[in-house]
Amino acid sequence: MAEESTRGLGRLQGKAAVVTGAAKGIGRATAELFAREGASLVVTDVDGDGLSELGAELERAGKPAEAVVGDVSKPEDAQTMIRACVDRFGGIDVLVANAGVIPLNNIVDATPRIGTT
Ligand SMILES: NC(=O)c1ccc[n+]([C@@H]2O[C@H](COP(=O)([O-])OP(=O)(O)OC[C@H]3O[C@@H](n4cnc5c(N)ncnc54)[C@H](O)[C@@H]3O)[C@@H](O)[C@H]2O)c1
Repeated sequence: MAEESTRGLGRLQGKAAVVTGAAKGIGRATAELFAREGASLVVTDVDGDGLSELGAELERAGKPAEAVVGDVSKPEDAQTMIRACVDRFGGIDVLVANAGVIPLNNIVDATPRIGTT
């Protein structure tokens, strides 16, 4: 964790949170912040390698967390993520529905039209 030695204020102590798209970017930063603030976490992503890295980081820091690989666009995966939080932590207080993509084009391929292609 980037600020592993920094302790939060315990603002999420006793709370259970699910963060989707947690392998990198905003989701990862959110998961790290929530962990510092004392939350119990289920972190999820389609990127199993990135998620393992985060899971190992949280474990090293002694934070209660479970990593669930899955695709939020698949209802059965989404259910598994939520169920993992309920089963492990007894409920869910916060859902950060962060997973997603912004399709960006290369400037070289840009056209005057709005939208893709
Ligand atoms: N960064 C920005 O400027 C910006 C602006 C507006 C909205 N957003 C939104 O914020 C969210 C996070 O943005 P970011 O910049 O951190 O993105 P990012 O690409 O760095 O991270 C997104 C993460 O979500 C995961 N993901 C994507 N689709 C998934 C799916 N179907 N199921 C599970 N995991 C999935 C990816 O594997 C990745 O780890 C996205 O939803 C994005 O659309 C970002």
